[in-house]
Amino acid sequence: MAKKRNIIVGQSGGPTAVINASLAGVYKNALERGFDKVYGMLHGIQGLLDEQYVDLSTQIHYELDIELLKRTPSAFLGSCRYKLPEIHENKALYEKIFDILNRLDIEVFIYIGGNDSMDTIKKLSDYAILTGQMQKFLGVPKTIDNDLALTDHTPGFGSAAKYIGASTKEVIRDANGLVYKKNMITLIEVMGRNAGWLTGATALAKSEDCEGPDLIYLPEVTFDMDRFLAKIKDLMNKKESIVVAVSEGIKLADGRYVCELGSVGDYVDAFGHKQLQGTATYLANYLASEVNCKTRAVELSTLQRSASHMASRVDIDEAFMVGGAAVKAADEGDTGKMVVIDRVADDPYMSATGIYDVHRIANEEKLVPRSWMNREGTYVTKYFVDYVKPLIQGDYQPIMVNGLPRHLVLNKKAKR
Ligand code: F6P
Repeated sequence: MAKKRNIIVGQSGGPTAVINASLAGVYKNALERGFDKVYGMLHGIQGLLDEQYVDLSTQIHYELDIELLKRTPSAFLGSCRYKLPEIHENKALYEKIFDILNRLDIEVFIYIGGNDSMDTIKKLSDYAILTGQMQKFLGVPKTIDNDLALTDHTPGFGSAAKYIGASTKEVIRDANGLVYKKNMITLIEVMGRNAGWLTGATALAKSEDCEGPDLIYLPEVTFDMDRFLAKIKDLMNKKESIVVAVSEGIKLADGRYVCELGSVGDYVDAFGHKQLQGTATYLANYLASEVNCKTRAVELSTLQRSASHMASRVDIDEAFMVGGAAVKAADEGDTGKMVVIDRVADDPYMSATGIYDVHRIANEEKLVPRSWMNREGTYVTKYFVDYVKPLIQGDYQPIMVNGLPRHLVLNKKAKR
């Protein structure tokens, strides 16, 4: 009997509005290429270690399910933030993983994730080569943070940027309508950890019908409290409503995150990342006491990565494309690599997939170049906006049921 050709796919790290479109791309392409089964790890490699997985054919029955999956935010299979030990630290763990893979006749292992998740692809592909195992390991890029190296951008970023741009416009409208003969300062806090791609996307709000935020603070530039206060005081003399975008990850010269000045918890994930939250709240309270006017903190928080009703069509299409490209690459013999998106043209926008050695990508962070910000580090340049704009184009209308978007939800009772 011919050996079974199966694929296993997992999702890892912070979810996005389009991570499931990549899963759909893997599934569809795998079937078209004649693979026998596609398994989904439940909660990534962490769940796989507990032998938690599903046969995706028990979850996706119709073309409509694929369409729903593409429109479903968060990780359909469940995600994890789990760091594999170095191979020499725990060989038994790797043996366990490969035992599971061999029992399931896995030929291809695909992981949809960001820079931390690519560490898993790197270690597993290294172990396979070291021990002469035949499985292929491929990474599919994903992160709203857009901080993966060697890819023009990451799936998930475009949709989050679209939501952030739209929400910034709406917050500015709201604030403008409220102030009369008094000042009000609104601080919008945006995710992205040490990379300012998402915070910079608030500049998209600046358009014919909107003045855009007044100041934008990216984590790539050291934040100076005194200079910030001086800027705010100056603006207060010129206009009533002031809107400032701040990254969750802005830091002081001494290396402390601004949010650490407030009441942030001590939680640190497996990759050593602190939970960054509360920057806008801290600054809003600080300004309220310094300049004595109404202030408000708006944390976009998880909304910015789960707003599938605001997803960009370009983003969904590309997320689907990179999922399919990973299957194709593995089928053609690649391993230890991650699919990337290359920008082929800007006007009209066109992209294609490429592929790179995952060792060049895992654990690296691509930050916003300093030259894409103004001299003071308080705004992004036109070049930045021109880079983001094509990625937020087009809509992918939700399938509405009873007035709300319908999602595809894992059926945990389905047989493996
Ligand atoms: O890595 C993606 C991301 O959304 C970051 O922008 C953010 O700092 C982090 O995840 C938040 O993670 P969690 O939801 O686990 O707190």
